[in-house]
Amino acid sequence: MCGIVGYIGGGSAGAKRIVTDGLKRLEYRGYDSAGIALAVNGRLVVEKAVGRIANLEEILKASPVDSHAGIGHTRWATHGAPSQANAHPHTNADGSIAIVHNGIIENYAELKERLIAEHGVSFRSETDSEIAAHLIGLFYKGDLLAAVREAVREMRGAYSICAMAAAEPDRIVAVRKDAPLIAGIGENCNFLASDIPALLKHARMIYLIENNETVLVTRNDITIFNERMEAVKRDVFHVTWDADAAEKGGYDHFMRKEIFEQPAGIAETLNRRLDEKGEIKLDGISLTKEDLDRIDRIYIVACGTASHAGLVGKFAIERFARIPTETDIASEFRYREPYIDDRTLFVCISQSGETLDTLAALREAKSRGARVLSVVNVVGSSVARESDDVFYTWAGPEIAVASTKAFTTQLVCMYLLALYMGRTRGVLSDAEYARVLSELSQMPDKLTALLEDEPKIRDIAKKVYKNENIFFIGRGSDVSVALEGSLKLKEISYIHSFAIAAGELKHGTIALIEQGSLVIVLASQDRLFEKLLSNIEEVKARGAYVIGLAKAGNREIEKRSDEVIYIPACADEVTPILAVVPLQLLAYHVAKLRGCDIDKPKNLAKAVTVE
Ligand code: F6R
Repeated sequence: MCGIVGYIGGGSAGAKRIVTDGLKRLEYRGYDSAGIALAVNGRLVVEKAVGRIANLEEILKASPVDSHAGIGHTRWATHGAPSQANAHPHTNADGSIAIVHNGIIENYAELKERLIAEHGVSFRSETDSEIAAHLIGLFYKGDLLAAVREAVREMRGAYSICAMAAAEPDRIVAVRKDAPLIAGIGENCNFLASDIPALLKHARMIYLIENNETVLVTRNDITIFNERMEAVKRDVFHVTWDADAAEKGGYDHFMRKEIFEQPAGIAETLNRRLDEKGEIKLDGISLTKEDLDRIDRIYIVACGTASHAGLVGKFAIERFARIPTETDIASEFRYREPYIDDRTLFVCISQSGETLDTLAALREAKSRGARVLSVVNVVGSSVARESDDVFYTWAGPEIAVASTKAFTTQLVCMYLLALYMGRTRGVLSDAEYARVLSELSQMPDKLTALLEDEPKIRDIAKKVYKNENIFFIGRGSDVSVALEGSLKLKEISYIHSFAIAAGELKHGTIALIEQGSLVIVLASQDRLFEKLLSNIEEVKARGAYVIGLAKAGNREIEKRSDEVIYIPACADEVTPILAVVPLQLLAYHVAKLRGCDIDKPKNLAKAVTVE
């Protein structure tokens, strides 16, 4: 995710080092370019570099300029590929205003058209952010604070913006709406940042800026204004975390932080694809009725966790769009002479967009004439660049090796895609479309409620963490959740686990069930519940200890299981989004009790760029 740092102190130097140091503290969040603007002798000097902050430092080292004030940014590409032009800071036409921006200006296309038509503005980047620099520049009449306020009145979306004006080198102005912003109190200096780690070396007393507030920072003062531009009083927050804890936002591990970020990631992924009327929009992706009529088969291909999202995608596409859909893991697909032609839509799913097997499968499909649509988290990654269309997940950077929020946002993308295709093909009724979309829009709140059950999952973890063999069973889309729950557990706790369709147990695997075997039964599918009951009986009869996972309100599961985990009630079709979360938490707490290195499990890497 993008990061912001602002600094204002005394003298004529220091900003260069302090701002870049602050940016380095945000490196862990992932970024693809970085930049800085410094106030130097009545003008703003802007330097940017693609890639590591070290590249920016090289440029800065070669330049003699420094300043008492500056703003800096690390960019995680959203609008426009990672490039020097798209890196922040952005400036207005004459370079007298510089801004850095996190978040998204939703109405940027409309504002851009207006700025071009009415003011002849020429744009230098593909970003939404550049809008902010031009707007502030247009409103600027010698008062940066007023200009920023006027500019944000025009913008819709979620953002934090930090601005400097060449004519006012002793002020930095920032504004927040739904994207984090803090101001830090230093010694004879003050700071702005998107995150605490950026300031920790210099400031432990901070103000948490709230939504729709504007903050004016000078060397000696920090003034916070509400929406009506009245100064507000804010209590100082004393940061006691060390740098490591600060990076994790107070969580013990990135994995747990990312599990708790899922409601926000899902909300963001949905919001990006819903228009003002709440209809699915696939801006930039061409899937017209004619396109879809040409498609007679879909392949969904991915690796690991992403391939489990693909399995749910198959359910959703066949159920809602009625197009035959096959799934495969990329390492197999690429070598199996797949039946593919120009009537095939090839969907690949990847968090990193750099997984070699997935990339090779994509190339294979393309070479056979398929159209490629990818579901990717990292903007500008290889998979994204080589695809015909990209459906981005908006999970934000995923740092823990074990994928969590990428998975649930991938699920959301697959549902949206399936609903859109079904509606466009005319095979899904308006009522069904509206029903499932409404279920999806309730997911962030239901997930937030579900996460409150963490203590219960922790208690279950205490009972089971010494097991050396754990089975996961389920039916329907619960099979995909079982596979994902099992993968999560084995990769971070090193417990051997096995997932299988419940109906398949009796064809062999049941031979392994004995007194005390731990079986986690995914029972979220109401329509398959009765069938599943007989599978529960089969394992219980052999002495298994059963943990059942079902929707709230299902009392029958309590009678049949030793432990029960409930998820909020929802339609059968969308349960995977909720059902996987207790399994992520269970894996996390089991691994913690076993003393494992949760964020960096042995033998694993975040992006697998080898075959
Ligand atoms: C497991 C996990 C992996 C990845 C897989 C594909 O928690 O993270 O199974 O899902 O290596 O990676 P991406 O999605 O980056 O292609």
